[in-house]
Amino acid sequence: VQTISVGLLGLGTVGTGVVEIIDNHQDKLMHQVGCPVKIKKILVNDLNKKRDVYLNGTRLTKEADEILTDPDIDVVIEVMGGVDLARDYIEKALANKKHVVTANKDVMALYGSELLQIASENQCDLFYEASVAGGIPILRSLVEGLASDRITKMLGIVNGTTNYILTKMSEEGRNYEDVLKEAQELGFAEADPTADVEGLDAARKIAILGTLGFSMKIDLDDVAVAGISNISKEDLDYGKQLGYTMKLIGLADRTGNKVEVSVQPTLVPQAHPLAAVNNEFNAVYVYGEAVGETMFYGPGAGKLPTATAVVSDLVEVVKNMRLGVNGNSAAIPQFGKNLKSNDE
Ligand code: NDP
Ligand code: HSE
Repeated sequence: VQTISVGLLGLGTVGTGVVEIIDNHQDKLMHQVGCPVKIKKILVNDLNKKRDVYLNGTRLTKEADEILTDPDIDVVIEVMGGVDLARDYIEKALANKKHVVTANKDVMALYGSELLQIASENQCDLFYEASVAGGIPILRSLVEGLASDRITKMLGIVNGTTNYILTKMSEEGRNYEDVLKEAQELGFAEADPTADVEGLDAARKIAILGTLGFSMKIDLDDVAVAGISNISKEDLDYGKQLGYTMKLIGLADRTGNKVEVSVQPTLVPQAHPLAAVNNEFNAVYVYGEAVGETMFYGPGAGKLPTATAVVSDLVEVVKNMRLGVNGNSAAIPQFGKNLKSNDE
């Protein structure tokens, strides 16, 4: 039986989880795809860093080309983060006929359409389930589970770090800086947490959700964004006294061809289910013309939940390899009128 060989770009919070799941769930993976899955090489920045994971002989390298041009590697998993370099590596992997799985919403929100096109041209898969709402399989639910419906609205909490901060400030009276530091230590925050606290990370996710849900290309520039860095404990207490809980809410709302997309701190009535979504958890309501209201809930950040989404994408890639049907991820809607023209 052929062994599927994986090249991993990044061994931080998510990369470590990917190594652990591939190692610990080998029996489940074997059952799913019918062959062993092994990580051959891992790209890191610092070869001397102490790694808190069993590497089972997998080689670490600082040279991306050792992975991207290795003819034995079938699938590249990008979990290094950042934009330009990660985009280059994904493009190069696809050009070299390697399927790609990524958790990178920055790259997918900015360059998803182009990369999916390149994937299609090379008969390769490019999957990115982990890029939105960590462990919640929401992208696949949108493009498969709800494929027959017209989605009209998506609304919810799509950033774990800010939800963790707001929860701890509101429920435990802790201060912003301390809780942000804790969210970084727990591996929820981005390398530069500005993207989390200023709402940009949530904006990227809502742009991806809108693009898939509405079959309409939504640019980051189309998202009205506000973060939580100016929210004080007093604001949260005042809201509480009035019966509200503050949450950072992402919204994508479509009426006909007109779409409104935003991320902003919002006072949610305490009786509303979103008010009870705490810590790093995410929850997204999806409304469809036929299905009505659905809600997706689960861990939105963190090592193992995120890695579950990544490795599940890997399983899909390998299943497609065995069926010989890779390259159809570009069929995911990526076209349509740009939002800016909707006002015309
Ligand atoms: P980390 O910062 O924890 O890890 C990044 C890893 O990539 C490190 O191992 C680092 O190497 C390596 N790396 C970074 N830049 C380079 C480079 N230029 N060359 C070689 N290696 C490099 O990030 P996370 O694991 O938290 O996140 C990874 C991706 O997953 C990001 O795109 C993030 O947005 C996304 N994501 C993260 C989630 C989370 O909960 N953390 C959830 C969902 C998505 P070294 O170890 O040597 O420093
Ligand atoms: N920094 C992100 C968050 C990671 O806190 O939600 C998951 O995408």
